Amino acid sequence: MSKLRLGVFASGGGTNLQAIIGGCERGDIAADVAVAFSDKPEAGALDRARRHGIAAVHVPVPKTGTDGWLEADRQITAVLQEHEVGLVCLAGYMRKIGPALLEAFRGRIMNIHPALLPAFPGVHVQALQLEYGVKVAGCTVHFADEEFDRGPIIIQAAVPVREDDTAESLAARILEKEHIIYARAIQWFAQGRLRLEGRIVRIEGVTSAAIL
Ligand code: GRF
Repeated sequence: MSKLRLGVFASGGGTNLQAIIGGCERGDIAADVAVAFSDKPEAGALDRARRHGIAAVHVPVPKTGTDGWLEADRQITAVLQEHEVGLVCLAGYMRKIGPALLEAFRGRIMNIHPALLPAFPGVHVQALQLEYGVKVAGCTVHFADEEFDRGPIIIQAAVPVREDDTAESLAARILEKEHIIYARAIQWFAQGRLRLEGRIVRIEGVTSAAIL
């Protein structure tokens, strides 16, 4: 059986991409990053990919719902197919994915979110968790669908909030956990251990996918 090929989407610095590349290189994840994609030409994630000899592709993505957005969605889907991608990993990707991609990769798109969904969907959620006064923050890897931050949850990690936390310090500790749970979720997918029952994700041989 040939190795799973990943397409990783990132709009920013790409530390999650880096962690995924590292996991693949060490053999913790039985997959290869085939292509990194960004809607931002200057995304640090693209440089990280290039440094590892991984194809780094930029396509501008216009406003959601426009003809340009639909066209970009088709282009991106073609890039993934060309690279024979088997799993799409959204890792700090700030645009909505479109219908062509969703159709071609149904059940094969994951996202990482820096909060314990369904609490705190959206952006800047590390600061929002702190401002709200939660005592346990965290992060979630879930299957993605056409709505942001909504699909079936695969794994979550809790991050205790400290009295002296700032948005930055909390975000940094959440990010450390993100790197761990994303690698684990991808490895489960690569091993064929994830099965959907409605919106419940069952993981073969795993009794709890909560990291506390
Ligand atoms: C992460 O916190 C991710 O959960 C969020 O954006 C951030 C991306 O970080 N959606 P990086 O680009 O992987 O460093």
